[in-house]
Amino acid sequence: MSHGLHSALARANANIAFIKYWGNRDDELRLPANSSLSMTLEGLFAQTAVTWQSTADDTFVLNGQQQTGEPLRRVSAHLDVLRRRLSLDARAHVESHNNFPTGAGIASSAAAFAALTVAGVAAAGAALDERELTMLARLGSGSASRSIPAGFVEWHAGTSHEESYAESIFPPDYWDLVDVIAVVSREHKPVGSTAGHRSAVTSDLQAARVAGADRRLNLCKEAIAARDFPRFAQIVELDSNLMHAVMMTSDPPLFYWQPASLTIMNLVRQWRAEGLRVCYTLDAGPNVHCICLAEDASVIAERLRAIPQVIEIFSARPGNKAHVVSIP
Ligand code: DP6
Repeated sequence: MSHGLHSALARANANIAFIKYWGNRDDELRLPANSSLSMTLEGLFAQTAVTWQSTADDTFVLNGQQQTGEPLRRVSAHLDVLRRRLSLDARAHVESHNNFPTGAGIASSAAAFAALTVAGVAAAGAALDERELTMLARLGSGSASRSIPAGFVEWHAGTSHEESYAESIFPPDYWDLVDVIAVVSREHKPVGSTAGHRSAVTSDLQAARVAGADRRLNLCKEAIAARDFPRFAQIVELDSNLMHAVMMTSDPPLFYWQPASLTIMNLVRQWRAEGLRVCYTLDAGPNVHCICLAEDASVIAERLRAIPQVIEIFSARPGNKAHVVSIP
């Protein structure tokens, strides 16, 4: 590594899955049980600076707070992945900022591990292709693989490290969708995704969900290709409901929905029946992602704002790919 060129700042957007990732065939390699499909979310990002240096330990500062314990261990484990790939033995100082709440159903780990991967590679002066960046990000957090490419993204499950990668299937401007996120809780989720993935197999419903995942993914892809909102809405809501059915029937059972989540889901279906182009999807948290056509986004946001349990609203269009912001 040449002197003075061992630092880089990168930014990666979060993403929302339309066809969900839940459960792994290999937990270590984060090889998922099924392929998934998502939209990258413009403006909901993690921005991360990595500096490779000759100190004794890795250090990690998140939103201005020095991290220890599990968050530091997980970042350090991902730095090990990068060190192995880049043949580095330096330690790293990592400084990261999110501009959205951590651990509340907006995939903060996705943006975080995508930005960490892009910054870590650039800081080492290496240039890897996008496919390999998605594979490396996947080892940090599965959904992070989908936060590397732009727009509408498919993560191919694969059965080996090299085959499990994500790619953009439609550019951001292909379809004017907006994710209007209704935040109903800011609390950190009681059971994180990593533990959740491990318990998915304990549900009798997981095998059926996985068996139908490719079929749903293809239907979703076709609906996006045709910009057919009714077909899109039907498959997105079905896939979210299937994942939550698995969660609720796992051992231990995981109930991520709050009463307010269900209230909003029912309203969204009612609004669609009235002619608004909107559907819902929820990740491992109670916040409701209302996916709508851009033309309907301001009406949806206004209606969500009028619901007393809604604390805050974020809106995001299809997003750009993860990228290096600066190399000092
Ligand atoms: C419910 O990617 O957060 O958001 O690989 O353990 O970090 P780890 O899991 P993560 O799981 C995301 C699960 C989900 C659905 C999805 O985004 O597809």
